[in-house]
Amino acid sequence: TTIKFDYSPLTKFVHENELPEIQKMVTACDDELRHKTGAGKDFIGYVDLPVEYDHEEFDRIKKAAAKIRQDSEVFVAIGIGGSYLGARMACDFLNLNYGNWQKDHEGPIVLFAGNSISGTYLQEILDLIGDKSFSINVISKSGTTTEPSIAFRVLKKKLVDKYGKEEAAKRIYATTDKAKGALKTEADAEGYEEFVVPDAIGGRYSVMSAVGLLPIAVAGGDIDKLMEGFAAGREAYSNPDLSQNEAYQYAALRNILMRKGYNVEILENYEPSLQYLGEWWKQLAGESEGKDQKGIYPSSANFSTDLHSLGQYIQEGQRFLFETVVMVDHPKYDVEIPVEEEDLDGLKYLEGKNMNYVNEQAYRGVVIAHTDGGVPVMTIHIDQQDEFTLGQLVYFFEIAIGISGYLNGINPFNQPGVEDYKRNMFALLGKPGFEEQTNEIKQREGD
Ligand code: PA5
Repeated sequence: TTIKFDYSPLTKFVHENELPEIQKMVTACDDELRHKTGAGKDFIGYVDLPVEYDHEEFDRIKKAAAKIRQDSEVFVAIGIGGSYLGARMACDFLNLNYGNWQKDHEGPIVLFAGNSISGTYLQEILDLIGDKSFSINVISKSGTTTEPSIAFRVLKKKLVDKYGKEEAAKRIYATTDKAKGALKTEADAEGYEEFVVPDAIGGRYSVMSAVGLLPIAVAGGDIDKLMEGFAAGREAYSNPDLSQNEAYQYAALRNILMRKGYNVEILENYEPSLQYLGEWWKQLAGESEGKDQKGIYPSSANFSTDLHSLGQYIQEGQRFLFETVVMVDHPKYDVEIPVEEEDLDGLKYLEGKNMNYVNEQAYRGVVIAHTDGGVPVMTIHIDQQDEFTLGQLVYFFEIAIGISGYLNGINPFNQPGVEDYKRNMFALLGKPGFEEQTNEIKQREGD
């Protein structure tokens, strides 16, 4: 495996008995997950997705990506939540974004829309597309989500204005449910190429389905390698024995810590291209575990950037935090610190050293300081930022969160709480069917 989990700094916080003592519960949770007998059992398809996916569709994804790379200067992936964060995280993780902005790049610039209701953001995307050739991938499992639906309408209009209805339809790719939802109805009626979000794969567990794979392939990611890594993750993290399964160690330890009052976990990195790994992970962990008035609150930080902001709180603020670092052992590039004749900036002691070396010492220094300050720190070492490692890392987190949720006695595969605000928003917008709620809100607000 290209991933190594290190929890050695926890000795001060977790007694060596504690992991073995939770083994029986972990084994029970593993059994529920693997045999799909636990809560949310209809959405556990991700566990076997590395070996049980639609190969015909996978090939079609590669073909569509090749066509888009050839006929489009810009590609817009429209989606929100689980239909957005995975692809965005992967494109950043694989360092595909800046490369795509270079003049001599092959393939389109990949942009993301429909992940907010900001008119300013969407107008900027429209301006950026300008007269360039472009294609759209609209991604929504339900096919009815407001944010992507609005962005799709707006971008589709630009596409139809530019190419006419018939050619525009050939530049729209719809990723949605196989049978239901407004997007499915429209895709069938208009003849868009369609990709399926399998029933048993929940939004935040869907990056390795067509949801993430098409945008990643269009951006230039090698999705064969990605799936290989994903399958390697399934192999590596299939043994319920805690001493043999690092993803389960992580799941168990974060629960052990939570029960001691460490209720907030910060996912950290030392590479800016991992910022969206934190965003993706926050959805995965937060939406899976935050329910029934329980769960670790997932947060994220980017180091060393945030050592100059949040670092103060982490070191000396209220003691309810623990940290999980994702550390890249072999970053893609390195930069040597140049020699100068004089030492006006005081950096002579670093001359000839590389930035990765300095970054590593910052990490080591932080682990010691935060441990001394009362913050448990665990580290997930990843070898490098390539497709294989990413596939494995996704499996690591997804399986860990499934186990972790069961350990905490909740259903990690539903998200009842995300509907509440929508009811109010629809009522305020006058959506048909919400008249009663509209009146209720008016009364509450004293209208
Ligand atoms: O994880 C989830 O289920 C959610 O975050 C969804 O992914 C998000 O709400 C988008 O839903 P949809 O794909 O139906 O548009």
